[in-house]
Amino acid sequence: MNQISSSQKVVLIGASSGIGLELARIYIAAGCVVGLAARRTAPLLTLKQLAPQRVFVKELDVTSDGATEALAELVQEMGGMDLYLHVAGIGKQNRTLQAGIERDTFRTNVLGFGQMVGWAYRYFAAQGGGHLAAISSIAGTKGLGAAPAYSATKRFQNTYLQALAQQARMEGHPICFTDIRPGFVDTPLLSGAQKYPLMMPADKVARTIARAIAQKRRVIIIDWRYAIITFFWRLIPNALWERMVIRTKAKS
Ligand SMILES: NC(=O)c1ccc[n+]([C@@H]2O[C@H](COP(=O)([O-])OP(=O)(O)OC[C@H]3O[C@@H](n4cnc5c(N)ncnc54)[C@H](OP(=O)(O)O)[C@@H]3O)[C@@H](O)[C@H]2O)c1
Repeated sequence: MNQISSSQKVVLIGASSGIGLELARIYIAAGCVVGLAARRTAPLLTLKQLAPQRVFVKELDVTSDGATEALAELVQEMGGMDLYLHVAGIGKQNRTLQAGIERDTFRTNVLGFGQMVGWAYRYFAAQGGGHLAAISSIAGTKGLGAAPAYSATKRFQNTYLQALAQQARMEGHPICFTDIRPGFVDTPLLSGAQKYPLMMPADKVARTIARAIAQKRRVIIIDWRYAIITFFWRLIPNALWERMVIRTKAKS
């Protein structure tokens, strides 16, 4: 297994809960300089206690106008950035297509994602290299009727990262890209009335992600069971997919 380089400066956006919080623990334990950001700073300040000299915290809402300025400040306080890891995201089932849920999901997963990842790309291009990683989802594989905005925005993230990877090559920027696509992970994002199959623990998923990033994987589906499932999803003709019923069950 490739080791995490302790000399790295790692920025984690969306580190206050779930997968991001577990990733923060991993990079702090590995000895990296770590910059943590999210809207809730209390969990980030608790993480800072683990290594106060090399953990930096910033309150940041990826959807806000000042988000990239806050990221720039964080990177300056850290003395630079080698790895940008975008974890921040929201997602809800929305079978009644509530407008507010759709709008908030678009704002966070498209607008917020785009402006943060765009800043990181330009930073690495100017610096002459870096690693840009983001957690999208297997939900981007096909349009999911139970979560239209979530699945569409995750597909947007897959495509955007692919476009940036091609642009970086065309422009001669040595930037490495990792698109991380987990299946269901046991985090607050999935708390609610639904029961999800093949649920994975967040700490285990975070370890797999850190390993994939150290190995500089371009795309990783987590775990192998979801790799098989999405392989078959891709083979299903769209006309048939649109007739299929894909639903989670209510918790009993
Ligand atoms: N759980 C799953 O099954 C699953 C599966 C595939 C992919 N994913 C993806 O994995 C990522 C992490 O999700 P999770 O499951 O760990 O969920 P989570 O526990 O709800 O964590 C989401 C993180 O994103 C941050 N965030 C949300 N909106 C933000 C905003 N506007 N500005 C800044 N930070 C924001 C949250 O921090 P604050 O609320 O403090 O701002 C939190 O740290 C998401 O992109 C999600 O789509 C999750």
